[in-house]
Amino acid sequence: MAVRPILKMGTTSLMQPSVEWPSDKFASPELSSLLNDMRETMVDAHGAGLAAPQIGQNVRVVIFEVLENPRYPAVSVPFTVLINPTITPLSDTLEEGWEGCLSVPGLRGAVERYDHIRYTGFDAEGNLIDRTVQGFHARVVQHECDHLDGVLYPMRMSDMSKFGFTEVLFPNLAPYDDH
Ligand code: NI
Repeated sequence: MAVRPILKMGTTSLMQPSVEWPSDKFASPELSSLLNDMRETMVDAHGAGLAAPQIGQNVRVVIFEVLENPRYPAVSVPFTVLINPTITPLSDTLEEGWEGCLSVPGLRGAVERYDHIRYTGFDAEGNLIDRTVQGFHARVVQHECDHLDGVLYPMRMSDMSKFGFTEVLFPNLAPYDDH
């Protein structure tokens, strides 16, 4: 297990699509090793999520966890390993919200995301995950899965006046919710 370097925006591989995790490699030492490194790296960086391409492995594997915190008092998302995910919007409603990303350190931007989605995928053992979620949980999943298609949140922004440095936009908040 190791904390791995997090690639930053500008790195070519961050903008390339990732490949599916092979179905015969669930519950494998290779997957355990990747997931341990991802979790350790996310915790070390105080992140709410991390996608494998952010540590240089272009495979369709993401993790996320949102602990209750002062900024999102009503939000908590259990620690989740999500492999080969699919997302289906359940309504056309878009919500604007602030996002940060460990690959875009020190910045925040407002991004519109679907408010209500169903997502599916597999856990580390290959068991099916199938959840219907809303709000911040839906936002985190869409952000992480975008990484698997080579998309970083600034590429989703429509109003660049809502893009800036965290210390300026939110001077009283610690950077604990990047992903
Ligand atoms: Ni991110």
